[in-house]
Amino acid sequence: MPFLPGIIAIIQKKPWTIDYGLWTNLIFAPMEKEVVLSGIRPTGFLHLGNYFGAMRNYVRMQDDFNCYFFVANWHSLTTHPDTKELQNSVHRVIAENIACGLDPEKVALYIQSDVPEIAELYLYLNMLAYKGELEKTVTFKEKVRLNPENVNAGLLTYPVLQAADILIHRAVKVPVGKDQEQHLEMARNFAERFNYRYGEVLPLPYAFNYDSELVRIMSLDGTGKMSKSENQLATLYLADDDESIRKKIMKAKTDQGPAETNAVMPDYIRNLFTLMKLVSAADTAKKFEDDFNASSTGNCIIRYGDMKKQLAEDMAKFIQPIREKAADIQNNKPLLGKIIQQGADKARASASETLKLVRQAIGMNYV
Ligand code: TRP
Repeated sequence: MPFLPGIIAIIQKKPWTIDYGLWTNLIFAPMEKEVVLSGIRPTGFLHLGNYFGAMRNYVRMQDDFNCYFFVANWHSLTTHPDTKELQNSVHRVIAENIACGLDPEKVALYIQSDVPEIAELYLYLNMLAYKGELEKTVTFKEKVRLNPENVNAGLLTYPVLQAADILIHRAVKVPVGKDQEQHLEMARNFAERFNYRYGEVLPLPYAFNYDSELVRIMSLDGTGKMSKSENQLATLYLADDDESIRKKIMKAKTDQGPAETNAVMPDYIRNLFTLMKLVSAADTAKKFEDDFNASSTGNCIIRYGDMKKQLAEDMAKFIQPIREKAADIQNNKPLLGKIIQQGADKARASASETLKLVRQAIGMNYV
């Protein structure tokens, strides 16, 4: 008698206990948006590589997903124990993310240390992480090499804390670059071990990005990725003023020009075109590209000086509103405080739900 429970429920006037069947559930159940999460380390200033490689995608995700974005200030302690600059950097990163278009009403934008639930999950996950696998992590080995006198346990368990960041909201999509893929694989391993030992609680998270290939911005001196700390004169920061932007772009590496028509573009020239396509009018890059392709030795039509001048103007116009909005927010302490509190509240609500399930699964619920 499959209808009996439903009929009894109607008699008892408890319609919510009736199983209305799969189709009704599919039609009436609110579609849960998938959970997206990413963390930003607050060491250094955010730059154009962060903007086009990450933040611009976060902004696109905020309507499609249930988004959690946070400032990883605990993680920064693993390499930067001196916290003199930290508070200011954390505030700046929050302000810059909003200036770039993140809406604190739509997403949870919060600071890691405001969510103590993460630390508790980190503790449980630490019991499922093995010393051997942590020592083999590429980022760990790299940090040991760079800073052999501060190989602390926090550094070793950095991927465990990152897994806790993700799993505490049961996030399944994590927008990160290639360099974070090993950490994500470790997060999946810890989640699987947890589920195997204590029961299915934690969904497995995967790296995720909209574009199959992320826009990669190179340093203006042509030496690899634009980065927060290396060669600041070749990095365009969201906090740079117009004059520094012009200076840096005018100093960007170029050469005498192509030696034949339709020549292969060197990386550092291609990077200038990449930047131009991102911030200039559509036909501007096209014009310089045509000039490049028509040039050859003795007949150099492309003028890198002119190209850089144009790019510098367009870049200054692009960065200026972000810089100004970020500064406004950062100087408005009551507003900043409200945003941070709002983010913490949202993040803690979700985190404490997961932690409750985790405690139940482990049997750490005593009352
Ligand atoms: N490790 C990341 C980085 O270096 C920052 C980070 C910390 C993170 N926790 C995270 C990224 C959780 C994604 C998800 O960039």
